[in-house]
Amino acid sequence: MKHSLAILLVSLFLIGTSCKTGVTVQSEEGSRAEKMLAQMTLDEKIGQMSQLDIGYFRDPEQLKNAVREGRCGSLLNFIGAEQVNAIQKIAVEESRLGIPLIIGRDVIHGYRTVFPIPLGMAASWNPEAVKKAYRIAATEASSQGIKWTFAPMIDITWDPRWGRIAEGCGEDPYLASAMAAAMVKGIQGDSLTDPTSLAACAKHYVGYGFTEGGRDYNTTYITEPVLRNVVLKPFKAAKDAGVLTFMSAFNDLNGVPTSANEFTLKQILRNEWKFDGFVVSDWGSVVELISHGYAVDERDAAAKAINAGVDMEMASTSYFDNIKILLEENKITQAQIDEAVLNILTVKYRLGLFDNPYINTEAEKILLDPAFLEHSRTVARESAVLLKNDSKTLPLKTEISSVAVIGPLADAPRDQLGTWCFDGRPENSVTPLKAIRELLGEKKVNYVSGLRYSRDKSTAQFNAAIAAAKKSDAIIFFAGEEWILSGEGQSRAEIDIPGVQSELLAELAKTGKPLITVIMAGRPLAIGEELGISDAVLYAWHGGTMAGPALADLIFGKESPSGKLPVTFVKGPGQIPYYYYHNNTGRPATTQSWTHIDSISVENPQSSLGYKSFWLDYGYTPLLPFGFGLSYTTFEYSDLSLSAVSMNKTGSITVKATVANTGEMDGVEVVQLYVRDRVGSITRPVKELKGFRRINILRGETAVVEFTIDAADLAFFNGKETLTEAGQFDVWVGTNSDEGLHGEFIVE
Ligand code: BGC
Repeated sequence: MKHSLAILLVSLFLIGTSCKTGVTVQSEEGSRAEKMLAQMTLDEKIGQMSQLDIGYFRDPEQLKNAVREGRCGSLLNFIGAEQVNAIQKIAVEESRLGIPLIIGRDVIHGYRTVFPIPLGMAASWNPEAVKKAYRIAATEASSQGIKWTFAPMIDITWDPRWGRIAEGCGEDPYLASAMAAAMVKGIQGDSLTDPTSLAACAKHYVGYGFTEGGRDYNTTYITEPVLRNVVLKPFKAAKDAGVLTFMSAFNDLNGVPTSANEFTLKQILRNEWKFDGFVVSDWGSVVELISHGYAVDERDAAAKAINAGVDMEMASTSYFDNIKILLEENKITQAQIDEAVLNILTVKYRLGLFDNPYINTEAEKILLDPAFLEHSRTVARESAVLLKNDSKTLPLKTEISSVAVIGPLADAPRDQLGTWCFDGRPENSVTPLKAIRELLGEKKVNYVSGLRYSRDKSTAQFNAAIAAAKKSDAIIFFAGEEWILSGEGQSRAEIDIPGVQSELLAELAKTGKPLITVIMAGRPLAIGEELGISDAVLYAWHGGTMAGPALADLIFGKESPSGKLPVTFVKGPGQIPYYYYHNNTGRPATTQSWTHIDSISVENPQSSLGYKSFWLDYGYTPLLPFGFGLSYTTFEYSDLSLSAVSMNKTGSITVKATVANTGEMDGVEVVQLYVRDRVGSITRPVKELKGFRRINILRGETAVVEFTIDAADLAFFNGKETLTEAGQFDVWVGTNSDEGLHGEFIVE
């Protein structure tokens, strides 16, 4: 017995192990990292746990010295192939152990070729196209020396006031998980050692999107069932897709800041999920433990973050300044430091940084490659959602004699790039105005911006805009938000279209000309009125470099829109939070039970409004449901069939439906599968997305769409355990979360 234990220990040593809380790394890279660790001084270890922003350094000499001394293991926002090679040379050739740096940068939705904001990409419901977009982003970014990016951002949110809704994949855990996996695979590529592969970073771990009131950085309270059934799902998908790093977040979660949260960082991430990459803090989030009132000073903050399992500190220097003394005080252990460094070094080995630390300076020729731009155009086209199209206003014919192009977003090259865009260049943007002029010829386009920017309150150009509309056959109004109104620290309490855009739109509507409103924004705006007065509405988000040609493709019918909403659109901020997978309540409202505020007679008796769950002014339904999106063609669903009426807890059921393209154009439909668990040991959502397929159906043709539901897909965390419960289930296959063919099955 003893003998075999000894053999086991020796062999574990040979292949390299790192026993962290429940995690055992057994890999060649782990082995090399362990050998390196054994040679490192404490100072060198502390250096590996520090990531410094380029702005930290007074001058280039200070930077070089820091790298030479092994003072930091990672640099943030230091880019350019030659520059990176030069600093890497110092790390590799002049530092004592030659440990390469890992260079990090936010490449959130494209590098030079910018793709739609991630919320827009999620609206494509096309993980393959999204994966390709991130592959392109990684290829471009890697040519600049970037080896690690802080994406994907996969915070589920129910709050469009929160500016960072733009950066995520919306409200649904299933869709966000599919996107998370696609983004990780795109960023990290097929082989981690490929020069174009970057380390991805699943952020912000965790719960940041549940910020109270939608105000950025605010407190979050999330029950464990919601945490596990909703918020953690895309993070688990990222982990399963092999993401190399996680970023702890800014928010406190149920009273414990997430950058010092042992439950999420140790219990869930390491013990349950067996994550073996490394965790970086968010920018300064370790020292922010002091502002949270969770740490007395920087030393205390560093101790708490290290004890919770944050391996690397971003931007602030509490680790560097305090680790030695914390070790002396026994507030942290040497084993914790070794574990953190091992995690970091293992990732560096896995990325091939030790073997191939330098960048090919020729690689940057790939920036803005025509194929990249073409893909950006495709994704922008697929992300746009057609919300209304009365009397087949769209598509317009290219033979149209003239169009009025109006609105502050028609020719706003920076705004269309969206938030979190450091490296995209406005001069590379093709705006809608430019694309429409190219398509129709200058003469047919009567352009008046009408407003200089989205918040502009001046009506000075209204008359000119109305005159342009009157002399044209149709009006295309590009409304929305400037890029700066969404993103980090950019939350809004009101979510209307800013400035006097709506007033201008109302004036344009009076002309009686066909009115097409295109909305380019970083969040789902409350657009009830604009939707009402427009003949057609396309929701185009901030669509990136190629937003203009993509929108021209749709407006003039080169292709039919196929995007679907990745978030519920509310009527106004008073409905927030509204998400389609809410519970039913004990008093669900119905069309019959809702009383509108204006129909209540004076001095109504106390009980006359029926005591149901609705708002007197808004009712109980949102403006537009999750999954909604029209096409120029029409799709008809029929013949729902299930392979069985019941399954056991290890079984599965196949669900089939026929979808026919009954319109006049070829088109893509996103067929959606929802289920409802009718009775549970805790209350269950009225619907949950469990599958989707994006299918191209030619005009006049039909497709049979098939989904398999495994009993395991129906599992949920009930406060004590994760399980699939026996009982009756509903299933729907349809075009959005509000419509669909209905069936039933039983889990025994
Ligand atoms: C953001 C992160 C980002 C980091 C580095 C922080 O302010 O919250 O999302 O990755 O900065 O730029």
